[in-house]
Formats: sequence, C-alpha cells, structure tokens
Amino acid sequence: METQTTVVSYTARRTLSTTPVRCLNVENINPYVKAAKYAVRGELAVKAEEYRVRLANGDKSLPFDSVIFANIGNPQQLDQKPITFFRQVLSLLENPLLLENKEVLRTSFGYQPDVIERAEQLLGEVQSVGAYSHSQGAPLIRDSVAKFIQDRDGFAADRHSIFLTGGASSGVNTLLNVICNGPNAGVLVPIPQYPLYTATLSLLNAKCVPYYLEEHKAWGTDVAAMHKSVQEAKAAGIDIRAIVVINPGNPTGASLSPEDIKSVIDIAAEENLVVIADEVYQTNVFIGEFTSFKKRLRELQHQVPVKYDNVELVSLHSVSKGMVGECGHRGGYFELVGFDPAVAAEIYKFISIMLCPPVIGQCLVELMVNPPKNGEPSFELYQKEYNGIRDGLQKRAFALYEAFQRMEGVECQEPQGAMYLFPTITLPPKAVEAAAAENRVADEFYCLRLLDATGVCVVPGSGFGQKENTLHFRTTFLAPGTDWVERIVKFHSEFMAQYK
Ligand SMILES: Cc1ncc(COP(=O)(O)O)c(C=O)c1O
Repeated sequence: METQTTVVSYTARRTLSTTPVRCLNVENINPYVKAAKYAVRGELAVKAEEYRVRLANGDKSLPFDSVIFANIGNPQQLDQKPITFFRQVLSLLENPLLLENKEVLRTSFGYQPDVIERAEQLLGEVQSVGAYSHSQGAPLIRDSVAKFIQDRDGFAADRHSIFLTGGASSGVNTLLNVICNGPNAGVLVPIPQYPLYTATLSLLNAKCVPYYLEEHKAWGTDVAAMHKSVQEAKAAGIDIRAIVVINPGNPTGASLSPEDIKSVIDIAAEENLVVIADEVYQTNVFIGEFTSFKKRLRELQHQVPVKYDNVELVSLHSVSKGMVGECGHRGGYFELVGFDPAVAAEIYKFISIMLCPPVIGQCLVELMVNPPKNGEPSFELYQKEYNGIRDGLQKRAFALYEAFQRMEGVECQEPQGAMYLFPTITLPPKAVEAAAAENRVADEFYCLRLLDATGVCVVPGSGFGQKENTLHFRTTFLAPGTDWVERIVKFHSEFMAQYK
C-alpha cells in the first residue's frame, strides 16, 4: 500500500488540491467495467476463500473442516492430476539444460524417448518458451491443430485459419471486440450461459440478446424461442451479429444433437449471423458422441446447395477442460471458417497488439491435440491416466446426480457432459421471504447458507441467467469423495425443515 503522504503529493500535483483524493474512484472509472458481472468468481467465491484462509490459520470455530470449491471448473485445484507426458515435456521446455543429461532423464526419472523427442521438436520450433512467438501462435502447433480438427471431423482445416489463444476466454474477448461495432450490436447468448459472454458484452457496451434453453428437453435448443428472441431484438432496433452456442453446455452440461446444431446453423444462415461455437468441453461427453459445429456445417454445405455457403463460424477449444485440465497454463485456439480474409486480417491485428499467447500454453495445445499414439513409449501411461480421469468424472457426476434425486424439491437432468450439474431447486415461500428480507434473490440466499453451513461453494443460477420464477444452482462434480455431497444433502434437509 502506498502511504497517505505519497498519495497526497501525487494527487496534489495533478489537481492542485490538498485534498487526498485519488484520480480514480468508483464513480469515474469505465462504467462498463462496473456493470459487468461474473458470478463464478463473485461474492460466494470470495467468502469461500476467506473460510479457506481461516481454516488454514487454525480457526476451529467453523462448522466444517474443509472448503470445497465446487463453483468453478478448475480440475487441478481439486483432485485431477496432470497427465505425466504433458508435464514431462513441459519440464524440458522450461529447463532445456536437462536435455544434456538424457540418460539420467531416462533412468532416474523415467522420461521415455518420445518425451525427449517432443521437447526437442517443440524447442526447435519456438527456440525458447521465454521468447515471443508469431502472434497467431507457432506455425508447427497450428499445423497440429489443423490435423486434429481434420481427423476429428473428416473435413480439411489449415493453419492459416487457426489462432492460438491464452485460453478460450481470450479468444472470446478478441472475437466479441471485433464483432461488436457499437452500442446497437447484439449477440444471441443462451440462457443459462457461462457469464464470460454477458460480462464481455457489458464491457463492450453491446447488447446481450438472450435465448432460453429448454430444461425439460435436456437443456436442448428451442428453435421457436430463438426465432422469437431474434424478432423481438430486431423490433427493438438491435443489429444482431452473432449467436453463441456452448456445446457441451456450461452450466447445463447438455450435449447438443446434430439436429440441434443444424437448427442453430439454419438461424445463422437465415439471419446472416456469425456462429460462435464454444466447444471447450468437447471431450467431456458421457452420453452419445460430440459433433462439432464445423463438421455439421461442412456436411450441410455438401448436402444442400447455396443456403449454407456464406455461414461464418468460429469454434473455440481449450487446454483448460477435458482430461487435460491445465487451466492455469492458459492455452487454447479458435478456428475461423468462412470469414472474409480482410476481417481475418483485422482479427490478426487485434491479437498482435497483445503480441502472442503464452508460449508454454501453446505447447500444451500441441500436446493436447497430438498426444502419444498407440505403439509409442508414453502411450500406455497416457491412456491409463486419460481414461482414469474420464471414468472418475463420470462416476462423480452420477454419484452427485443420485444424491440430488434424494433431495426434496430438487430436480436434475441426467448428466450428459461438461463438468457441471445445474439442478432446479424449489424453495419454500418462507425461504424466499427470508431471502427478500436480506435483499437477496432466493438461490443466492440458499447458496450462501450452504457455504456458511458446509464449506461447499456453489454458484446460484441467477449468476448464469434462468427463466423467470425458477431457481437453480450450479456445482462442479470435480471434488473427490462423497463427504461433501453428503454435507449438501444434510444441509438441504435442514434448510427445508427450517423454512417449512
Ligand atoms: C463454456 C466455457 N467457455 C470458456 C471458458 C474459459 O476457458 P479458458 O480457461 O480456456 O479461458 C470456460 C471456463 O470455465 C467455459 O466454461
């Protein structure tokens, strides 16, 4: 903290006043920053962190002995272990001197030859992870991403259309900055949604045009609701420029069917909208198979002449989720499909102003899209770890789902994917009144009580948007064990009894 004297002399120079006022106060900063809301790291998360610190300092006065951060999809904060191959390669990238002792790496640390080869190949490309790279990301890594997309979808991809990013968040920020050209610009956003979208639109003073997902159709898209939103927004003079789809969904966990994907692409084609497909959970799918927007668009372009020729699609992926779970490393990419090259050039300029995405994050993207293959020395361990994480997540999702089924007034869709469950809660009128008396919405009140009583931090549905007169909360199913789930079950029955 600066001392008061320093502040006074600084402001005195600027204002010729002796009043100790700063240049900045909350009334004169960018109002769009103040307007932005981001519930997953909001009041509950701050309070949970305070509880964690109190417990760490030996505070015995709390009614729980650990805090469970079920508010955010942060796999390695909970239990998920990093994949060995990834971290072995990264260790060599960070400290290339280790490569001078390959024999020691092999015999003492169990580094397989393919770990060493991959590190040497990546170092050959980037020289040092401490150096800036090409603004769009290292070409070799973008080639690997293109190959990954091609193998996944069966349709061509090329490195010139791929932009590596510091996580999907920075990609979304770039895209919305370029897409939103003024206060009248609107973007269709699913509700409930991951608040990155509404928050970024607030920062840009652009309009969020909500379209509601259908809880009773496993949180699928509702074509009629999307059309209605479009018509209402147009009537209000909004220039709708893009539609966001999160697939698999956050917070819903839903995985869209090829038919649902087609209905979004149809609207984009009819209304001339850019499709922003957030596909960061593409490997977190329990039921059925993930279908990418790119694949579906290419299929439609092959099947139906003309209609889909000019659809602009951007799809995003990340190292943060899936079985990789390396969100602290900040890596991801987006692929542009059908964009005007002059617009792509402006996107390039925009990202070049920030120089380049973190190079170590780029290297993780390479490892994610090009992991050890069958027959290579690291494959067996990689596959064992990958499958172990995948099976563990599915088991936890269903254990939590079963617990929710035991809770009065709680209804939850069967887990389909992503890292979250988003149950509906029906609370007694007295609980709703008690919340109003504290000037809070009822789901926020419920989540705060849950945190105070159990140390389990979840996020109220109001943080993601929800249909009027419905209440939800979102929890991840990343935390290990069943103790925390039982804490929720016990709290819930006591809460319901208290407000009966
Ligand atoms: C749907 C969705 N998109 C994007 C992100 C941000 O991911 P990243 O860590 O790659 O920025 C998240 C993070 O939870 C998310 O849930």
